Amino acid sequence: MTQRLKEHQMEIQGKVIIVTGGGHGIGQALCRRFAAGGARVVIVADIDLASAVTVAEEIQGIPIAVDVSSDSSVQALARRALEDYGHIDLFCSNAGIATDGGAEVSDADWARIMGINVMAHIYAARAVLPSMLDRGEGYLLQTVSAAGLLTQIGSAPYSVTKHAALAFAEWLSITYGDRGIKVSALCPQGVKTQMLENSLKGAGNFLHESALEPAHVADIVVKGLAGERFLILPHPEVAEYFKRKAGDYDRWIRGMRRLQDKVFQPQ
Ligand SMILES: NC(=O)c1ccc[n+]([C@@H]2O[C@H](COP(=O)([O-])OP(=O)(O)OC[C@H]3O[C@@H](n4cnc5c(N)ncnc54)[C@H](O)[C@@H]3O)[C@@H](O)[C@H]2O)c1
Repeated sequence: MTQRLKEHQMEIQGKVIIVTGGGHGIGQALCRRFAAGGARVVIVADIDLASAVTVAEEIQGIPIAVDVSSDSSVQALARRALEDYGHIDLFCSNAGIATDGGAEVSDADWARIMGINVMAHIYAARAVLPSMLDRGEGYLLQTVSAAGLLTQIGSAPYSVTKHAALAFAEWLSITYGDRGIKVSALCPQGVKTQMLENSLKGAGNFLHESALEPAHVADIVVKGLAGERFLILPHPEVAEYFKRKAGDYDRWIRGMRRLQDKVFQPQ
């Protein structure tokens, strides 16, 4: 039984791994953790090539410029990895952005966040699934957010796009799970990165109070991958909030209104 379990665990050792948004924050921490875990190669992909180069130099990885909101750019990234390493074991679709506001947010800003927080996951799957399905194995990790299970006070674009990202991850897991494809959705609350510093300001300080270090999140991701858990929750309380939401939606919405009254600081 132990042997059987072992065979089904995703190990980092020897793996070909791509991390988008690898230049900063959670992605950077994932790159470092995967390199420390003995990955064969870590491809640090970011729209900010300079940051990808810095991280890649530190971990002896490979920096590649990518715009995750462009199908052709993600295709080129996957093609390069397949040409150079033969296959991709783990694709971490992690890059993301945040925008405060609601219905008044401009169409251009909605399109931008939809491209980066939603379409990027679709482009990633489109680019890597065919080769993974041929091989009968492969792992897709999507960095979503607790906002994908709950909501983001002060940000409709973030809430909507993270719900969509989670829906796509669920769909992938259901559709391809029996063909050797593993899928996990990483759903943290606050993590101490430039995103938390610079964006989502309307959400108030409550996210900061429980914010985790990116390196800690990366450790939890590696454990979650080893256990092949669909939901990876660095803040375990999120599971309880999600249960409460499912148990009594109206009560949960009333509670969120109270939280909003307490913490929301419109910009
Ligand atoms: N920080 C948090 O509190 C928090 C909480 C929950 C979920 N998340 C999610 O974690 C992920 C990583 O966020 P972070 O906090 O590390 O942010 P971050 O801003 O520190 O890092 C994001 C990285 O993505 C890159 N990026 C942005 N747009 C890109 C594009 N179009 N193509 C390629 N790369 C691009 C940036 O250059 C940056 O290196 C995001 O999906 C975010 O929504 C963050």
